[in-house]
Amino acid sequence: MTKPIRVLFVCLGNICRSPLGQGILEEAIRTHGLNGRIEVDSAGTAGFHIGEKPDKRAIAAARDQGIDISHQRGRQLTREDLDEYDHILAMDRANLKDIHALENGRAARGRIELLMSYHPDGHPADVPDPYFGGPEGFAQVFDLIETACHGFLETLDMEAGA
Ligand code: 4NP
Repeated sequence: MTKPIRVLFVCLGNICRSPLGQGILEEAIRTHGLNGRIEVDSAGTAGFHIGEKPDKRAIAAARDQGIDISHQRGRQLTREDLDEYDHILAMDRANLKDIHALENGRAARGRIELLMSYHPDGHPADVPDPYFGGPEGFAQVFDLIETACHGFLETLDMEAGA
């Protein structure tokens, strides 16, 4: 049995965007029959919401699309994560900068990238932070993340030998 590919989504608070990324990619993994080949988690660059459930609006946006993220709990990104994950997907350029600051010259094992680089429509680099907006922002963010996750999974399919 080969070791699973490990993927980590990173945003600021780990209660809005990265939990959606985790839930969406896990669902796509199930749909593609890739269970056990790819493991997914999420973390925040900040420690504001450690141990908390995702934001209610993120839970609702996911539930509207048939995905349950309510069991997830917030945690903060660690240096060890940078060694342990094969792919580290940042939601925006500020997250990317913070991840590189934590890396601080270490040869992180994971490839650190912007999730939106996998969006096929040449979408702007960032998944906008929906935290200070309304529920419609969460639906929009869900769609952006979902499309990019499908693009990402296509590249992983090859890596996973599927
Ligand atoms: P996230 O959104 O980074 O997508 O989880 C945010 C959540 C919380 C805060 C900011 C952004 N906050 O300032 O508490």
